[in-house]
Amino acid sequence: MPHDLILGIESSCDETSAAVVRGGHEVLSNVVASQLVHADYGGVVPELASREHLRAIVPVVREALQRAGVAYANLDAIAVTEGPGLAGALLVGITFAKSLAFGLDRPLIAVNHLEGHIHAVLMQQNDAGAPGLDAETWDGPAPLLALVVSGGHTHLYLASRTPQHTWRYRNVGKTLDDAAGEAFDKAAKLLGLPYPGGPWMDALAAFGDPTAVPFTVAQIKAKATGNTAPKLARESAEARDDVRFDMSFSGLKTAVRRHVELHALAPSIALRQAALRAAGLDKASPRDHLTNNGPATDLGAPGPDSGTWDRGGILSHFDQPTLDLIASFQSAIVRNLTRATFAAAEHFGARSIIVTGGVSANSALRASMTALAAQRGLPIAFPTIALSTDNAAMIAAAAWPKFLAHDFALDTLEPTPQLRLG
Ligand code: KG4
Ligand code: ZN
Repeated sequence: MPHDLILGIESSCDETSAAVVRGGHEVLSNVVASQLVHADYGGVVPELASREHLRAIVPVVREALQRAGVAYANLDAIAVTEGPGLAGALLVGITFAKSLAFGLDRPLIAVNHLEGHIHAVLMQQNDAGAPGLDAETWDGPAPLLALVVSGGHTHLYLASRTPQHTWRYRNVGKTLDDAAGEAFDKAAKLLGLPYPGGPWMDALAAFGDPTAVPFTVAQIKAKATGNTAPKLARESAEARDDVRFDMSFSGLKTAVRRHVELHALAPSIALRQAALRAAGLDKASPRDHLTNNGPATDLGAPGPDSGTWDRGGILSHFDQPTLDLIASFQSAIVRNLTRATFAAAEHFGARSIIVTGGVSANSALRASMTALAAQRGLPIAFPTIALSTDNAAMIAAAAWPKFLAHDFALDTLEPTPQLRLG
């Protein structure tokens, strides 16, 4: 008897994850093993990533089944990330998923990682009582605009449901250089913060002035591609479809580097790095220390929004100009993302917006996007924080419409590191 259970497996970068999801939206388990080994190198080392995936894949899948209370025999399909991602890292998940599908005689479903991030939001919309988007409006030419923003990607997609209830996507914008998360991580590294730097920048920005350092945001005009001189005969819809909303983030990172040089910050950065390491904070999560859980007995200084508190004494390692620099940098990234997203939403007549991927956990981005969406009367939705970063539940969720449509992968499935969506 079918249980509608899909086992999802994700191994595209530095998280080994397995999840059991029922009916495309009910998460029975979602185990994520993050590879801490990369923190020592300030970025993901591909060879180490593959080795760590190999080590983790069996225990992670076993734990996902255990937590879900499900036996291998109960699974109806195995879903796995096909790409984009690191070739060796993807290979571990795909090889394991293929073997499992073969051994259990169950279908194998290949999922694009970026589509997974989009379904991290869509799956929550299917849960009763979840706020946000109206599933009835998902059909049509341009009902949804999705910003997928992470360490490896910054893409804008128009997404809509086909009459068969599978999904189709069209890319209408992307970063022309660094991904937004990459810019966060690189700027954080320049300032002596642990890897990945995004969550640190987010937590520390609450204590700085976002207007202190004037970062200029690269303006990439919505430009026509292909035929730039449309003939009168061309339909206006066709001309509208030629317009893109690309972004750029590498200039911001360079501006931080220049700021560090100009203000001779290198010695204080080296001191901070050593102090954070000595205090054992270089592998800690900033959320454990700079929290907004309200008053407690061991509080340090309150942040400017008075909801954020420094529990671990982390702030003592940061001078005010550095906190201001962090807040200003974050604000520039948020402006960049928000501007491109809302310009695209208006241009294509999107009926709702999704923001997803690791950077969608950023509190300033959520606040800014939510405020603008309310102003424009557009529904907007984000994943929970746990589903923002890489996880396998989103892979199993994205596989569900394919499962129903019998869109299965061949047993010759291989990693596609540069896999595109739309
Ligand atoms: O989606 P994800 O887990 O992996 C990729 O597919 O890349 O995203 C990881 C990225 C990292 O660059 C990390 O620094 C960033 O998301 N990130 C954040 C926050 N949380 C994670 N960036 C800014 N603010 C955050 N709160
Ligand atoms: Zn991702």
